[in-house]
Amino acid sequence: MQAGGVWRSCIAPIWPERMYTEIMSERQKVLVTGGAGFIGSNFILHWIANVGTAVVNLDLLTYAGNAGNLSRVQSDARYSLVRGDICDAELVAGILREHCPQAIIHFAAESHVDRSIAAPGAFIQTNVVGTFTLLEQARIYWSGLDEDGKRAFRFVHVSTDEVYGSLGLEDAAFSESTAYAPNSPYAASKAASDHLARAYFHTYKMPVVTTNCSNNYGPYQFPEKLIPLVILNALEGKPLPVYGDGQNVRDWLFVDDHCSAIRTVLEKGKPGETYNIGGNSERKNLDVVTSICDIVDELRPSPSSPPRRKLITFVTDRPGHDRRYAIDASRISRELGWVPAERFESGLRKTVAWYLENESWVESVRTGAYMDWIRKNYQERVTQ
Ligand code: NAD
Ligand code: TYD
Repeated sequence: MQAGGVWRSCIAPIWPERMYTEIMSERQKVLVTGGAGFIGSNFILHWIANVGTAVVNLDLLTYAGNAGNLSRVQSDARYSLVRGDICDAELVAGILREHCPQAIIHFAAESHVDRSIAAPGAFIQTNVVGTFTLLEQARIYWSGLDEDGKRAFRFVHVSTDEVYGSLGLEDAAFSESTAYAPNSPYAASKAASDHLARAYFHTYKMPVVTTNCSNNYGPYQFPEKLIPLVILNALEGKPLPVYGDGQNVRDWLFVDDHCSAIRTVLEKGKPGETYNIGGNSERKNLDVVTSICDIVDELRPSPSSPPRRKLITFVTDRPGHDRRYAIDASRISRELGWVPAERFESGLRKTVAWYLENESWVESVRTGAYMDWIRKNYQERVTQ
């Protein structure tokens, strides 16, 4: 962005006395929503380490948000946390006025499919109403920037491959032109938010870029999702619940690779476009679970107990369970030069090691509310 970009129209009227160099160092300040969640916190750590400019994190700290994920940057002057709701228009407007971000990277969401089946209302509120509120306040802020500021601004809307629905085993992977066919309340709410993001570009020309990514795994993932849940249960000798026949396929991506993809899209993505992000790592759920068992056996041997594979328990399937997801990530690779760095086997090993080394983090997120969810989700599932 030109030095004058955001400064003339945004910062100068509020702090006319501030030094130019101070303003310059803030030029690339970004607003991250949902930065205390799994991917958002990995992204902020990645951003501070690799880009180094200031980040404001707007997060409601729901059950899935944990300020402690960011303890490494907590006292860093470049990082600040605002606890609040993306559905609160006044709050969002105030943050944009105060911080004048050059970009918004929007992660905040309700993200767990099983919870969306049990209680869909929160998904509509945060994922649809919240994304609308953020887009609308961003539009008002963006409209007030000068021409350079307007051109430089980006709204990166972080979404999922689940909006495309379910593939058969022989079907081609999802591309950016695959028709939307969301099957769960979670996927439907994300699809609705994607359509709003698209409309804000097409109607108002606000520079929005959308990413649709496959299943992530890695450090700081809340242990309601398959991989961390199975790691922790395997460690504790508890049953490893596999839904249905365990033959459902997901395309796994190590979270650091997702962070680098989002940064690439922010820097080089074309406004109004969407980019699919995936790890070229399709695996059946049962294979993922057995791999975790073997890694836990190796890293935390328990000679007096049977191999962890013996803990695998087939349970009642998820209603409407999508059979297969697979991402064709050739566009982001061809047009923006991004490819994933991590192989699934090495990424999974790093992830298991991280959970073994971070017992206090695990304890801190397994609160009463977490245990209530585990009881609710698994007690009603019959062993097959
Ligand atoms: P997460 O559930 O771990 O974190 C969500 C964060 O959003 C939490 O910190 C939570 O406190 C915050 N939040 C929730 N409601 C909020 C609200 N109303 N206002 C402000 N903050 C709120 O989610 P995640 O797995 O890190 O996913 C982040 C984004 O990436 C989501 O938009 C999700 O749809 C998308 N995504 C996730 C995956 C995946 O495999 N996890 C894959 C593709 C895309
Ligand atoms: P999950 O991690 O919830 O991600 P998503 O539903 O967004 O793909 O689940 C990944 C896969 O693992 C999915 O096919 C459902 C399955 N699964 C189980 O078999 N057992 C479990 O206990 C959980 C949480 C998921």
